[in-house]
Amino acid sequence: MSQNTSSRSVPRQSMWSFFREFLRDRQRIGAIAPTSTAVGRHMARLAGVAEARTVVELGAGTGAITAPVIEALPADARMWAYEIHDPFLAHLRERFDDPRVTFLNESAEAVRELRAREAPEGFDAIVCSIPFSLLPPVATDGILAAAAAALRPGGTFVALQYHPTYLVPLLRRHFGSVRREFHPFNLPPTLLITAREPRGDR
Ligand SMILES: C[S@@+](CC[C@H](N)C(=O)[O-])C[C@H]1O[C@@H](n2cnc3c(N)ncnc32)[C@H](O)[C@@H]1O
Repeated sequence: MSQNTSSRSVPRQSMWSFFREFLRDRQRIGAIAPTSTAVGRHMARLAGVAEARTVVELGAGTGAITAPVIEALPADARMWAYEIHDPFLAHLRERFDDPRVTFLNESAEAVRELRAREAPEGFDAIVCSIPFSLLPPVATDGILAAAAAALRPGGTFVALQYHPTYLVPLLRRHFGSVRREFHPFNLPPTLLITAREPRGDR
């Protein structure tokens, strides 16, 4: 998968600027609008961010989930957020000025190497909104395998997905426990899938 897109920047977070970027790169962005703050806050709760020391976000977009995760993040915790769409990355760096947070312009499977560098004992939580059902299956499996390998044994992976059935069986290859819940009050309505008991590198 190639890593970067153009260097245009998204001037402000708005439904319109997000939708415009979606029209430019539908497959990677995979959503017509940013996630709602309520769903982002719920993801942070499911991931246990308030008790975490190390948190990773995969596919940060314009920061709709990043913001509630930062809101819940303890003062001594750290967060790393991956985003490959350059205009979104520029926006994230401008929007969030927090010494606990590092934005990475790499594809999400690099999280396996991030663990080796930054959290040898494994990350506490990973939140993810990558549109897996639009990616080649091999790319999805590569990212899920890397996420399972990057978490500590008691760590939690929470994924937001619009496709009702695609991700759960793929997650079961890498996690011992997978639960999903439906959230109708989002544009579009969405599933939150919580996976625990990572099986590590397979
Ligand atoms: C559905 S959008 C979600 C954006 C934001 N988190 C939100 O909830 O509003 C998916 C995001 O994942 C990013 N993305 C897609 N594939 C990725 C990959 N392999 N690594 C990192 N980010 C990726 C896209 O550029 C896009 O910003």
